[in-house]
Amino acid sequence: MKRAFVTGTAGFIGFHVAQRLLAEGWAVTGFDGMADQGDQRLKQDRHAGLRRHPAFHGVEAMLEDAAMLQEALRRCRPEVVIHLAAQTGVRHSIEHPRAHLQSNITGTFNLLEAMQGQGVAHLLIASSSSVYGASTDLPFREDHNTDRPISFYAATKKSIEAMAHAWAHSHGQPTTAFRFFTVYGPWGRPDMAVFKFTRAILAGQPIDVYNNGEMARDFTYIDDLVTAIGKLIDVAPGGPASDGQSSVAPFRVVNVGHAQPVKLDAMIAAIERATGRTAIRNALPMQAGDVPMTWSDTSLLSRLTGYAPGTPIEEGVRRFVDWYRDYYGGQTA
Ligand SMILES: NC(=O)c1ccc[n+]([C@@H]2O[C@H](COP(=O)([O-])OP(=O)(O)OC[C@H]3O[C@@H](n4cnc5c(N)ncnc54)[C@H](O)[C@@H]3O)[C@@H](O)[C@H]2O)c1
Repeated sequence: MKRAFVTGTAGFIGFHVAQRLLAEGWAVTGFDGMADQGDQRLKQDRHAGLRRHPAFHGVEAMLEDAAMLQEALRRCRPEVVIHLAAQTGVRHSIEHPRAHLQSNITGTFNLLEAMQGQGVAHLLIASSSSVYGASTDLPFREDHNTDRPISFYAATKKSIEAMAHAWAHSHGQPTTAFRFFTVYGPWGRPDMAVFKFTRAILAGQPIDVYNNGEMARDFTYIDDLVTAIGKLIDVAPGGPASDGQSSVAPFRVVNVGHAQPVKLDAMIAAIERATGRTAIRNALPMQAGDVPMTWSDTSLLSRLTGYAPGTPIEEGVRRFVDWYRDYYGGQTA
């Protein structure tokens, strides 16, 4: 049985990744500190769901606890480490930068250090499309300049990429850093737009629409993202020159997105159709740290894996709304 160590398994993406790996016959150790941010009930329910699987071992501790992390990793002896635990959210990082510093930078350092000498064949680590900052050079490609993050969250993600690259070079650790683009779907994050808007629309409450709904996001459906991660596990960078991204280390960055920006207005319309309700819109100006558009170039993902995420927003939103109604039993969250 292959073994994976996954951080952030009580979180949205980590939960789905762990579920998929378990379904494919992996043994999974999930490491999550149930960090303050986010909905605790959702986190507990996600982890409880995973614990029902006999090949899942859950460890509830913070990445900042280097000794716990080291012990959990040593016991697991993983072939693959997937690092998804993080403090998330552009706006959250403006108010709580220290939480982002400690979880994302110190936490990632602790993980890298704990992995040393453990013979991990492939480290896969979550970065974010937010590293592209306010770039208008669209679609975003992995070799574009990302030296100008405009939120502290993005700055931590850019730092994580740099730390992982240095580690890959110094320790020969094959590493893939994903840049995810606005992920949504069942068991999603209550602080993100699809979730927030669905909750408000079903409750008959107004939704805050920034910049007249003119902003666009490359919404990526969770099952597509998990499929892409599954395929990327199998293509660890073999050596420094394997795809031209790093001339010195077994390291690459890969965009994982749908490659089709959708205007917020169109996303809201999809929720209106799926819920059968009309949104009450509260028009607001653009927010600090936000970018007008994200759009991934996913040609590297396709070249490496032969896969391109394909779930249309209409379909993904419908599945999200079905889950939401089921989970909250027709109530509001
Ligand atoms: N969801 C998206 O659209 C998106 C987009 C780009 C990047 N990402 C990245 O993907 C990863 C997963 O995101 P998500 O949407 O599942 O977020 P999430 O908030 O749902 O999950 C993160 C999990 O990490 C845990 N955690 C946070 N800090 C921790 C710490 N210091 N120690 C231990 N556990 C800790 C939390 O308890 C939570 O369960 C993150 O690294 C995020 O930055 C997500």
